[in-house]
Amino acid sequence: MTPIPTTELSVDDIQLGQFETWARPDREGLFAKLRAERPVSFHEEGEFPGVPKGPGFWSAVRYEDVVRVSRDSETFISGKGSNIGDLPVELLEFFGSMINMDAPRHTKLRKLVNRGFTPRVITSLEETVRSTAHRIVRDVAPKGSCDFVEEIAAALPLKIICDMMGIPEEDNRRMFELSNIILGIGDPEFGVTIDSLMGAAIELSQYAQALGEARLASPKEDITSVLMSADVDGERLAPSEFASFFILLVVAGNETTRNAISHGMKALTDFPDQRAKWQADFEGISPTAIEEIVRWATPVIHFRRTATRDVELAGTKIREGEKVVVWYNSANRDERAFPDPYRFDVMRTPNDHVGYGGGGAHFCLGANLARREIKAMFDELFRTLPDIRIVGEPDKLFSAFIHGIKRMRAEWTPPR
Ligand code: HEM
Repeated sequence: MTPIPTTELSVDDIQLGQFETWARPDREGLFAKLRAERPVSFHEEGEFPGVPKGPGFWSAVRYEDVVRVSRDSETFISGKGSNIGDLPVELLEFFGSMINMDAPRHTKLRKLVNRGFTPRVITSLEETVRSTAHRIVRDVAPKGSCDFVEEIAAALPLKIICDMMGIPEEDNRRMFELSNIILGIGDPEFGVTIDSLMGAAIELSQYAQALGEARLASPKEDITSVLMSADVDGERLAPSEFASFFILLVVAGNETTRNAISHGMKALTDFPDQRAKWQADFEGISPTAIEEIVRWATPVIHFRRTATRDVELAGTKIREGEKVVVWYNSANRDERAFPDPYRFDVMRTPNDHVGYGGGGAHFCLGANLARREIKAMFDELFRTLPDIRIVGEPDKLFSAFIHGIKRMRAEWTPPR
């Protein structure tokens, strides 16, 4: 059995709200200790320039509690925000899409945007996903080495989401930069301030509104056209609602899948026996390998809810109005739910991980698309660059929200 990580800190000294915590090498140990000793704990919020310090938050770190909070969306709502800090009102308009809504508005909007994510739509994308993965790998193949994150992992989800939305090729790069700003908050490299966050949100929003209006006037074969003309109970998406949804999709669809692929490649390098198993029977093992990559990576570290009534969670009293944060990273390593959780096992069964959420109303809308992208990319890599491996240590994103890798060198023998 792979050992459970530890920490020198006592449980009282673990501060999940402080940015510094996320740079600690014993991050896994902190969560293992909380799971063992204090499954629901209270933390002060960190300070971010330009935003008043919030009242603090409860943390659920065990699998069972993360699932319970996620599935009880009457007691634990999203409408007061899904990030730990409360967004300034100016920003709520841009980030106010479905992830920050509750029923009945959430249900209606989700029904509407589902039109763009039906199994039929996703199946019809299959060929594009495959040919895009093929082109990305073919283009880097002769080089023998590259930055895996930008040139391989990020390129696929970016191109797919841009194609789905009808964003022309020449604007793809800008979408990449803007989503990096939005999710790079807290990492000094991106120097994100409230002003730059606002700037990125306004730029994306204006872009989306113009795109939505253009498709309303003359529809094309893209999801923007489907969404702009979709009608649920006589209601359509207003251009501003479309713009918020667009921001959510560009951000949610890019960074998450990119990090799943990057962490997956790193894990396959670190555990060559698992890689050999998968390479020997790609089709047969893919369904479990892809789930294990997402459990292992847990690209989204947490989301927040707010209690609508006094409630008890793992024996701790939570009061109406208090914030409750669900830590997917910790639930996905919970020894109560996953035997030998620190072992990367491409054949892990069962594997009901919470990488896409704990199974409630907000369960990831793009999960099936993400699964297809991860599969297509490893299929292409194993075929064209069968000895590709990561060299050196990844340069990690400094964030409590996205489990990100910024850069990571890959090497392989160029095909003849
Ligand atoms: C490996 C890749 C991905 C991971 C790990 C991931 C993870 C998540 C998580 C944890 C949530 C919140 C679930 C909850 O609160 O219960 C979520 C929601 C969401 N995701 Fe993903 N996601 C991924 C890929 C994608 C892609 C490719 C798209 C779109 C193209 C997407 C679109 C969304 C949307 C729209 C929501 C909000 C759903 C709602 O509020 O009803 N995601 N995702």
